[in-house]
Amino acid sequence: MIWGYILIFIILFPLALWNIATFVGLLRAKWVPFVPLTKKQLALVQKYIKLEEKDYVVDLGCGDGRVLRLFEKQGVRKLEGYEINFWAYLKAQVINSLVKSRSRVIYKNFNRINLEKYNVVFCYLLEDCLSSLRKKFDKELKPGTKVISFAFAIKEWGEPEIIYTNETNKNLSRIFIYHI
Ligand SMILES: C[S@@+](CC[C@H](N)C(=O)[O-])C[C@H]1O[C@@H](n2cnc3c(N)ncnc32)[C@H](O)[C@@H]1O
Repeated sequence: MIWGYILIFIILFPLALWNIATFVGLLRAKWVPFVPLTKKQLALVQKYIKLEEKDYVVDLGCGDGRVLRLFEKQGVRKLEGYEINFWAYLKAQVINSLVKSRSRVIYKNFNRINLEKYNVVFCYLLEDCLSSLRKKFDKELKPGTKVISFAFAIKEWGEPEIIYTNETNKNLSRIFIYHI
């Protein structure tokens, strides 16, 4: 009997909490899941996207902050990311403090922030979510800003420069760059 309670409290209870938190995260992110870029995809970003120290980068839906840390290694000093999934945010905080990253990950809906201070916007989001950002981009982004969208185009929004990275799964390894 006692082992039954121990099982519930030590294993099943945290498991249920984990599932609830994941579900709530998905709901809050309007079904855009926390699917971080793989090592291979990150290597493509590293190869094709070169940023400069003076850039001010934001990752919209930054997950565990891995893209920000990659750009930090390129020398960028001002890096911020917004994340709405609590577990992804928590993971980002832990990794950032372990590796002493100077990038900032903020637990907040990116629709509620103003983007005008950034000159590089990175996103790895689904098409519907990207389309819903068009108005915000038009209103807030300054001329000279670059919007880098990994894998998915922002439909009916300007003429992007498209980088075909020659990987086998071509659709998921294209990079769209919009110059404002
Ligand atoms: C496909 S993941 C990409 C993670 C990260 N950018 C990467 O490339 O590794 C998309 C992330 O966006 C987050 N997200 C979706 N909508 C959001 C919103 N409105 N505000 C903040 N984060 C959001 C999701 O929780 C998810 O972690």
